[in-house]
Amino acid sequence: MDKIIKLPQPGKISGLTVEEALLLRRSIRDFRDEPVKLRDLALILWATYGLSDPVEGFLTTPSAGATYPLQVYVVIGSRSVIDGSGFLDPGVYRYDPGRHVLMLVRSGDVRRELMQAALMQGFIGRAPMSIVITAVYERTTSVYGERGRTRYVPMEAGHASENAYLMATALGYGTVAVGAFRDSEVSQVIGIGGSEIPLYIMPIGVPITRRRIGFEELAGFFVGKR
Ligand SMILES: Cc1cc2nc3c(=O)[nH]c(=O)nc-3n(C[C@H](O)[C@H](O)[C@H](O)COP(=O)(O)O)c2cc1C
Repeated sequence: MDKIIKLPQPGKISGLTVEEALLLRRSIRDFRDEPVKLRDLALILWATYGLSDPVEGFLTTPSAGATYPLQVYVVIGSRSVIDGSGFLDPGVYRYDPGRHVLMLVRSGDVRRELMQAALMQGFIGRAPMSIVITAVYERTTSVYGERGRTRYVPMEAGHASENAYLMATALGYGTVAVGAFRDSEVSQVIGIGGSEIPLYIMPIGVPITRRRIGFEELAGFFVGKR
């Protein structure tokens, strides 16, 4: 299958500063029955692992020795991601940072399978879509050996995941970093194998309740503690 979706170009869309996104970020597990806009998904993917320096080939996430071991997939449900011309076909897609496109890996709505692989964490089945972050360890271990496996690759997944959290928050979405799942089953669902291992599932959707806290409230708390 070689279906390719050209993603809307990254740009300045959100109305939140980084400090506001940090204050408002929370793990969200209750989502509205509303689709994700393709324009927003494109920016979340770009923030997660997108190209920010086309000359050097560097991405939004720091990477040990710029070895970039991670890969990013999206599991899209039926009527779950929308653009001007309608809903995207449900399926599993791989994000290509170098071209800022999605490539179809597998057709069909597999959210339920992904939820089952993630120990029945129901919110994965209910979210319109999930990001799955995987790693091809050799890219990093071939340079850094065991330290790449135990430290650098998992550290990098954490960076990418936090980027996704913050960008999703800034655009009015919620997500949660899920690490509890059966690796082999998730691999089967997203069609990967060999040395590529799934590290995180991040369901994304519009939160049912929005978090409300301002810096004034935080300041009030600190003042009370001093
Ligand atoms: C490595 C890691 C694995 C996690 N795995 C899960 C998970 O499997 N399921 C889940 O609901 N939340 C998971 N979380 C989210 C945590 O429960 C959450 O970050 C924590 O409760 C703090 O809440 P906050 O993210 O809103 O600050 C995980 C977080 C991390 C960093």
